[in-house]
Amino acid sequence: MPVAIRSAALNDVPAILAIEHRAPGAAHWTSEQYNKLVGSGVVLVAEETGKLCGFVCARAVAGEWEIENVVVAVGFLRRGIADEMVRELIRRAESEAASAILLEVRESNLPARGLYEKHGFREVGCRRVYYRDPVEDAILYALRFDR
Ligand SMILES: CC(C)(COP(=O)(O)OP(=O)(O)OC[C@H]1O[C@@H](n2cnc3c(N)ncnc32)[C@H](O)[C@@H]1OP(=O)(O)O)[C@@H](O)C(=O)NCCC(=O)NCCS
Repeated sequence: MPVAIRSAALNDVPAILAIEHRAPGAAHWTSEQYNKLVGSGVVLVAEETGKLCGFVCARAVAGEWEIENVVVAVGFLRRGIADEMVRELIRRAESEAASAILLEVRESNLPARGLYEKHGFREVGCRRVYYRDPVEDAILYALRFDR
């Protein structure tokens, strides 16, 4: 069944939270934070036959976009859904003349790092002891658009 990628609406936030709560590697946010991002940032969702199966959210600050979270629901993993969402996010950032997309990720999160590297993100730094529970370094990635 094909997966559709579209912008999120406020009434998608409960399903976004449900997916996020079941993903241990994801950043954990409140519904207020997601509501705000749906209003002022970029939140894309993946939908299959009316069921939300993933989301990616980003914030634009002075021409630089920052990916805040990318999550695919358990049961939908390894089907190219994150690939499609990240590809669409990059397309939108380019079409809105962003200069770069930035993000940070746990050093041990190899699925996410593989995803970003596949889409051309390059490692640009490290923040030591950035995460808690468990304590871990953050690896910083950037995808820069040449203009
Ligand atoms: C990271 C995540 C979003 C990937 O979602 P997905 O839909 O399964 O990924 P895709 O099937 O689109 O795979 C795209 C690429 O990601 C990488 N990847 C995905 N899962 C992987 C795994 N288990 N091991 C290694 N690489 C993996 C690969 O490079 C893959 O490309 P390939 O299929 O050509 O090898 C998913 O694992 C997830 O939701 N993780 C928990 C939340 C999280 O940690 N988010 C990141 C926060 S920064």
